Amino acid sequence: MRLQKYLAHAGVASRRAAEEIVRAGRVTIDGRTVTDPARDVPDDGTADVLVDGRPVTPVAETVVFAVNKPAGVVSTASDTHGRPTVVGLVPAGKRRLYPVGRLDAETTGLILLTDDGALADLLTHPRYEVPKTYVASVRGGRVGDVALRALREGVELDDGPTLPAEVEQPEPGELRITLREGRKRQVRRMCRAVGHPVVTLRRVRLGPLELGRLREGQWRALDPREVAALRDAARRP
Ligand code: URA
Repeated sequence: MRLQKYLAHAGVASRRAAEEIVRAGRVTIDGRTVTDPARDVPDDGTADVLVDGRPVTPVAETVVFAVNKPAGVVSTASDTHGRPTVVGLVPAGKRRLYPVGRLDAETTGLILLTDDGALADLLTHPRYEVPKTYVASVRGGRVGDVALRALREGVELDDGPTLPAEVEQPEPGELRITLREGRKRQVRRMCRAVGHPVVTLRRVRLGPLELGRLREGQWRALDPREVAALRDAARRP
């Protein structure tokens, strides 16, 4: 991003006034005085930009929030039945945030909200689908080897067979399932198809991003490096 724009975005001054500030030699980047307002500055927070010796913090043009969605909260931007929405959990200010993909109302765990439409499209495009990991507790106790193999190799659902998935059983009746596709209620339908209906379902990972210690109902803004890692994960074939 051009230095002049960077300073204006950070709230230092209007673009025109920022240009004068730069020309006056009041700005340093990584310790060197810069007088060209068109100088390129990375906008991911990695450049050390000072005005009159004081640091300037860039304001991101777009934001991405990670949210731990509680059960009973819908992941659409609004709900015709008046249920609480995941967008309502995050103080968005003037930004218009959209959920990236969907979780069922009963499903808990990691969902992203962003005002970056291009990133949302990239992350949800079937061709670039990033792997998503779910932890399901299922009925019927320990899942046997035949059912595990079916889940891993592909289960016949009414909209066709599922793609190969990674499936582990850390403890009897608990499955950790990683999918590279995102069909409606897919984990629930897969588990039901092998005779182990889901009792609770939580998404714990989305590409490189882990739910981590975020508690239900909590959110945090991703830092530029995390957003870059998500973008990379989606672009990887
Ligand atoms: N699979 C499901 O069945 N439900 C979700 O919310 C996500 C994946």
